[in-house]
Amino acid sequence: MRMMDKVAIVTGAGSGIGRATARRFAAEGARVMCADREREAAQATAKMIAEAGGEAVELGVDVTDERGCALMVQTTLDRFGRLTTLVNSAGVSGTRRDATPPPEEWTRVLDVNLSGTYLASRAALEALAASGHGSITNLASIYGLVGGSLSPAYAASKGGVVNLTRTMALTWAPKIRVNCVCPGVIETPMTKPFMADPAWLQPMRERHPLGRFGQPEDIAAAILYLASDEAGFVTGVALPVDGGYTAA
Ligand SMILES: NC(=O)c1ccc[n+]([C@@H]2O[C@H](COP(=O)([O-])OP(=O)(O)OC[C@H]3O[C@@H](n4cnc5c(N)ncnc54)[C@H](O)[C@@H]3O)[C@@H](O)[C@H]2O)c1
Repeated sequence: MRMMDKVAIVTGAGSGIGRATARRFAAEGARVMCADREREAAQATAKMIAEAGGEAVELGVDVTDERGCALMVQTTLDRFGRLTTLVNSAGVSGTRRDATPPPEEWTRVLDVNLSGTYLASRAALEALAASGHGSITNLASIYGLVGGSLSPAYAASKGGVVNLTRTMALTWAPKIRVNCVCPGVIETPMTKPFMADPAWLQPMRERHPLGRFGQPEDIAAAILYLASDEAGFVTGVALPVDGGYTAA
């Protein structure tokens, strides 16, 4: 049990990587707040955790809403008494084929992926620091490290998350560790529409030297490490979990 005594908020917990992370945390002994803009999806994750013998609560939260983020933290404290861990997995993809997204699309992607990460982290700051073992793990992307996506908004948002992570790690040390993971292509509802395009699928798979796309559980395992006490001397890192994509 690598997360005993931990209380975690996972945003975007209603799907994909967030759901896998919430479930893995609970299986490792954490009590988990499953937060998602889609309340019913968050509730389904909390139910899965309860059915597996874990402890979870859910809340419908839009991470672009400052008051929603404050409520998410307060609800967690009311229910579980403390907060040790935040995972910012709420995110949206840009429109892949649009190299010149209109301003509304640019703003939407930046708002959720970058500003949402900041707002949730800011709301949790005090409680995480008070816990004595605070950590934040953000979801960046390979497209926060290298170019290549046709969505400039997505790449800009994830590049922002990488450097926001480093800066929060410096400014919030020593009380809170802050890291991010940079996944390659992971099979989740986010990437499902892209998978239907054979012109994208084969070349993209070949860019992953391990010969496959990732599963949400591959990313949850890395997040578990960064959020656990085993990573007690690790802060400010951007960890690729990408089957070798960025090694090329
Ligand atoms: N799937 C991939 O290939 C991949 C690769 C690199 C990075 N990522 C990142 O990992 C994170 C999770 O992605 P995923 O693949 O699990 O996606 P997903 O679409 O399966 O899940 C994202 C979840 O975030 C929620 N969400 C969206 N906007 C929100 C908001 N404003 N407030 C609260 N919740 C919101 C959605 O309702 C959804 O449940 C994202 O930040 C994504 O950019 C994914």
